[in-house]
Amino acid sequence: MKNLNYTHVLLLGFLLLSVLTMKAQNYDESKVHEYTLPPLLETEQGEAIVNQKQWEDVRRPEILKLFEDNVYGQVPKDFDKINFNLINKDELALNGDATYKEVDIEVHRNNGKVNIRLYLFVPNNITKPAPTFLVINHRGVKTMDVTRENPDDFWPVEEVISSGYALAGFDVIDVAPDHKIDYTIEVLEKLYPEHMQMKNGMRALGAWGWGASRIIDYFETDQTVDATKVVVVGHSRGGKAALWCGAQDERVAIAISNESGNSGAKISRRNYGESVERITQHFPYWFSPTYSKYANREDELPIDQHMLIALNAPRGVYVAGAAEDDWADNKGQYLSLIEAQPLFRLYGFNLNLPNEMPKVGVQLIQKPMGFHIREGKHNMTLFDWQKFIEFADEVL
Ligand code: GCU
Repeated sequence: MKNLNYTHVLLLGFLLLSVLTMKAQNYDESKVHEYTLPPLLETEQGEAIVNQKQWEDVRRPEILKLFEDNVYGQVPKDFDKINFNLINKDELALNGDATYKEVDIEVHRNNGKVNIRLYLFVPNNITKPAPTFLVINHRGVKTMDVTRENPDDFWPVEEVISSGYALAGFDVIDVAPDHKIDYTIEVLEKLYPEHMQMKNGMRALGAWGWGASRIIDYFETDQTVDATKVVVVGHSRGGKAALWCGAQDERVAIAISNESGNSGAKISRRNYGESVERITQHFPYWFSPTYSKYANREDELPIDQHMLIALNAPRGVYVAGAAEDDWADNKGQYLSLIEAQPLFRLYGFNLNLPNEMPKVGVQLIQKPMGFHIREGKHNMTLFDWQKFIEFADEVL
């Protein structure tokens, strides 16, 4: 207690107050209030969007900007130089089934430099460049370790390789540590410090997606992987980043959101599970500073998350949930796919998702959308991966 000073007391008081005033999360379907979503296919001037060109020329840029300004912040596109340095290579990894590479992706801007380490396994028994799953990994490098001393279903590399896909990943710590204060120490401080001054500047989720895009830059130079068939995968906070990455970077062939929930696949206006208030209080550094003003005011958001799904069109989008993960609101995640359908139809996809959510364990694929809910708790498991692979087999 000796070290408790005035600032500490203030901070504690503030925390207590915010806990006391924060609304409890709702888990009762009968208490979900009615809401009206902002129009997907109508411009800010009120004009109807009836074809792809109008979407691409007018409405898509409008929506992208609304997400930048109100939710995730801008994602910078410029840098001075990018180098790819092969650090480690084993042509007989995984008992000879895969070639393993560790590549340092060095990005320079002004006088700053960041280094993203890529972990890549490519199947040996295929003759063409491999379609590739790229994981935005917030669980640390040990899951991706080539020695396989810590096998984890989060990263089932043997299964992915034997299905004819490459598996790639990077640790988000290299671009923006998943930490309230330290998230700035890599890409934000070293390359884009001006973003910290901008109201719609990049923050952690945007930086993770930015990192995935730099890895795709590398894929474009590696003959063993097919850079036109990159499936960006993220679990939970990583899933939010994967959808945003797919919205920003049209080289992403499929974006997979595993249990991304609030500010990922879930409709924000649906008051079920995690709310904007709760997420912006606990994880303010994931988002642009403006986002917190929508706490308890979701109805005032100029976008909702079905539009994030739509920004990925006409490319593939997969949304997965877990039966016991009420926090992420499975129904709210499914509804985003339903609500995004009209836009995908403009691209000629004959989508007609059932209103009723698919039963637990049953996969739904209507190209280019897919969905499943798995039994169990919040996690990314082998079952999820098997479904991702089945989906990629159909869509790529
Ligand atoms: C927290 C957070 C979620 C997030 C999850 C995760 O539960 O509230 O929004 O998706 O962490 O990343 O596992």
